[in-house]
Amino acid sequence: MIAGACAPQKDNNIRSNQVLTEGWKFTKGNPGGAQATTFNDNGWQEVTVPHDWAIYGPFDKKWDIQNVAIEQNGETVPTEKTGRTGALPHIGDGWYRKTFTVADFDENKTALLVFEGAMSEPEVYLNGEKIGEWAYGYAYFYFDISDKLLKDKENTLAVHLSNKEFASRWYPGAGLYRNVNVVVKNKQSFDQWGIFVTTPTITAEKATVNIKAASSAKGGINMLTEILDADGKIVASSWQAVGANGAFEDNITVPLPKLWSPETPYLYKAVTKLFDGKIGIDEVTTRFGIREIKYTAENGFTLNGKVTKFKGVCLHHDLGPLGAAVNVAAMRRQMEILKDLGCNAIRSSHNMPSFEQLELADEMGFLFLAESFDEWAKPKVENGYHRFFDEYAEKDVVNLVRATRNHPSIVMWSSGNEVPDQYGAEGLVRAKFLQDVFHREDPTRPVTVGMDQVKQTMQSGFGALLDIPGLNYRVHLYEDAHKAFPQGFILGSETASTVSSRGIYKFPVVQEKEKQYDDLQCSSYDLEACSWSNVPDEDFVLQDDKPWVIGEFVWTGFDYLGEPTPYDNFWPSRSSYFGICDMAGLPKDRYYLYRSRWNTDEATLHILPHWNWQGREGQVTPVFVYTSYDSAELFINGKSQGIQKKNNSTPQHRYRLMWNDVKYEPGEVKVVAFDKNGKPVAEEKIQTAGAPYKIVLEADRTKLTADGNDMSFVTVSVVDENGLPCPTATNRLNFAVNGAGSYRAACNGDATSLEVFHSPSMELFSGKLVVLVQSGKDKGDITLKVTGSGLKDAELKLQSL
Ligand code: GAL
Repeated sequence: MIAGACAPQKDNNIRSNQVLTEGWKFTKGNPGGAQATTFNDNGWQEVTVPHDWAIYGPFDKKWDIQNVAIEQNGETVPTEKTGRTGALPHIGDGWYRKTFTVADFDENKTALLVFEGAMSEPEVYLNGEKIGEWAYGYAYFYFDISDKLLKDKENTLAVHLSNKEFASRWYPGAGLYRNVNVVVKNKQSFDQWGIFVTTPTITAEKATVNIKAASSAKGGINMLTEILDADGKIVASSWQAVGANGAFEDNITVPLPKLWSPETPYLYKAVTKLFDGKIGIDEVTTRFGIREIKYTAENGFTLNGKVTKFKGVCLHHDLGPLGAAVNVAAMRRQMEILKDLGCNAIRSSHNMPSFEQLELADEMGFLFLAESFDEWAKPKVENGYHRFFDEYAEKDVVNLVRATRNHPSIVMWSSGNEVPDQYGAEGLVRAKFLQDVFHREDPTRPVTVGMDQVKQTMQSGFGALLDIPGLNYRVHLYEDAHKAFPQGFILGSETASTVSSRGIYKFPVVQEKEKQYDDLQCSSYDLEACSWSNVPDEDFVLQDDKPWVIGEFVWTGFDYLGEPTPYDNFWPSRSSYFGICDMAGLPKDRYYLYRSRWNTDEATLHILPHWNWQGREGQVTPVFVYTSYDSAELFINGKSQGIQKKNNSTPQHRYRLMWNDVKYEPGEVKVVAFDKNGKPVAEEKIQTAGAPYKIVLEADRTKLTADGNDMSFVTVSVVDENGLPCPTATNRLNFAVNGAGSYRAACNGDATSLEVFHSPSMELFSGKLVVLVQSGKDKGDITLKVTGSGLKDAELKLQSL
C-alpha cells in the first residue's frame, strides 16, 4: 500500500471509447477531393461499419480472372483461374466518410483513432488533412489525433481504401470490415494496448498475476489493480508507484485460482486504475484467464499440466454470406457448431483474428493459434504482403501481440503460412527476426510457421529454429521431420484439405486426388483430396499413433469464399470445398467423421449417403457410417447387410464403418451400433423421401438482442407428405421478414451458385439452405415467412428483446 493513495475517488469520465458504427457514407471508386470537409457526399450510400462493399456482388468471373500457375499447388504452366478470390467485386478503390464529435475534449487529453482492420492500404484523413496510412488489410493500427481533433465541433473522417488485383489467394473482403474507434483519455494514461497480464506461477492454493503496464504517467502517479472473479467480486488488489518511463509492474496473488481451459473457460478481470493523489486519471479493464501452457519434447503441449492435443480447424475470416464484415452472432454460431464437433482449437489462417473472435474464444473455450502472414518478402501473389514486409512486418506483429496478448485462448503465434521464404538464407534470417519480435513482445508463447516445404526446411535449418515446427500436409514426412527437427514434437498446422459438397455423392466410390465432375461438385464420401493433401483418416493415424504429434488444424472448419480447388479453372465455382461444414454452416458428412473422434462427451452415429437414388435401383451404392462406436450392423429394408467392425487394415477401415457392396433399393437404411461387449446400444435410420411437400424452419436462436446486429440463423428444408426430409430438393424459395427485424441474407452452401446472398430468394441445395434474420434496434416480434411454389409454406416467430 502506498501512503496517501487510499479511498480512491471514482471519476467515470476519465476514458471513453466511441465506436463509429452508424452514419457512414460510402462510395466505390475514387472521386477527387473526397477527403475535404466541404466535399458533398450526399449521393453516397449510407452504410454502417463493419461493412464489406463487395459481398453484395454480383458474382462474376471477370472480377478476379487470373492467368497464373499456382506454384504452391505444384503448377508450372499458367492457366485461366476464376473465382480464386470469390468472384466478387472487391478490387478497386473505395471511400468512407463520417462526421463525429467528441464532447469535453481539451489540451489535457489524448485522442486516438483505432482501426481493427481496413481492407486495404488505408489512407486516413481528418478534417481534410492526411493523418496517416497503413498497408496490410488485416492489421490493427491507430493514430494519435489529439492535435487534429476539433473541440466540441463536428470532425470529418475520410478513409480511402484500395484493393489491388492479384493481392490475395482467397476472398479478402473490402472496406472497413472491422470496428473503427475514437479513444479519448487523459494525457497521463495507459498506452494503447499497454497492459500485459500474465500468470507466471500457479498452484492449487494461489496464482501470481503479473501486471505490466506502459503509460505516459509521470512521477507521483500510482496504479491500483483490482482482480475481479467471474462474479465481479474483488479477490485481490494492490498498489504500485510509477517506475521509469511511465512503466508499472505488479505481482498480485489470487487465492484458490479457477483455471481457464476449453472445458472451463473461467475468466477474471484486472481493473487497473491510475491515480494522481486521490484523483483517478485512467482506468482500463482487462479480461484474462489463469492458465499454464507448456511445450516439451516429453509431453508435447500441456495445458494446466494436462497433455492436450489440438483438435483444431483453420478458419478464413469471411463469414460466408456476410462477407468479411465482422459479426459476433455469426461467429458465435460457428463456434457453437465447432463445440458440438468436439473441436478445441482455431487457427486464424492466415492473418490477424478479429477482437470479437478472440473474446468468444476466451468465453466459449477455444485454444487459439493467432497467425499473421501468408507472405513475407518473397511473393506468392503479385501484389501480396511482400510489398510491405520490410516496412511493416515488425509494426504489424507488435500491434498483433500488444492488442491480443491478454487473451487466455491464444496459446501460440504463427509468423507465417507456407511462406516462399522457406527457401533461401534470407528466409532464415526473416524467420528468426519475426520470432524474436514475437518473443520480445510476449515471452510467454511460442511461435510456429506452417511449413509445406518440409524437406527443404529440414535441410536449411528453417524448421529447427522455430519454437514449434508446423507441418502443412505431408503426412509421409512426419517421421523424418520428427527425427530431423530438434524440438521433439510436430504440430499438424494444416491438415487434410479433403474436398466435398454437402449431400452430393458420386459413383463408383473411389479414393482419388484432383477428381473433377461435370457439375463442379465433389463427392461427400470423403475420399477426394488435392494432389498435396489427403483424406482425414491419414491424419488420424498420425494423431493417434505418434505421441509426439501435438495435434492438428484441419483445413478448414467452414467453406469460405474463393479458392475453389479442384475447380479453380472452371466457371462457375467461386468458393471452397474444403470445409467440414459448408458455407451456410451446415454440417457435411465429414463433420460426423471428426465428431466421432473429437466429441468424447456424446456419441456419434451417422449414415451416408442419403437414400433417394431413383434410377440406381440394383446398383452398388456403398453405405458408410461415421460413428464413435466400434461396430455396427446395417439393414436395408430390414435385411441385414452384415456387421462391420473398425480394424487396422487401412486408415479408412480404422475410422469408418463401410458396407461397400450394398445395392440400392428404395426404403429404409438402418444401422444398429454395438458397445464393446457386442450389445446393441444405439440405432439410426434414414428413409427414401417422396416429393417435396412442406417447408420446415429451424432457428439456431429465437430470442435476439435488439441491437441492430444480432442474427438468427434459420435452417430451411423441405419434407415430403410423411415428414421425411427431401435430401435432393432444389426448390426455389422466397423469404419475407416482418416486424422488429429484417432479412439479411441466405446461403445454400453450393460452391457453384451465383445467386447473391442478400436477394430474398434462393434455391435449396441438397434440400437445405440457411436464412439470416437480423434484429433491428426496436424490441418486438419478428416473423420470417418462407414460401415456394407448390409447397406448404412456413412461418417462424422470433423475438427481439
Ligand atoms: C495450403 C494453404 C492454404 C490453402 C490450402 C488448400 O497449402 O496453406 O491456404 O491454400 O493449401 O489445400
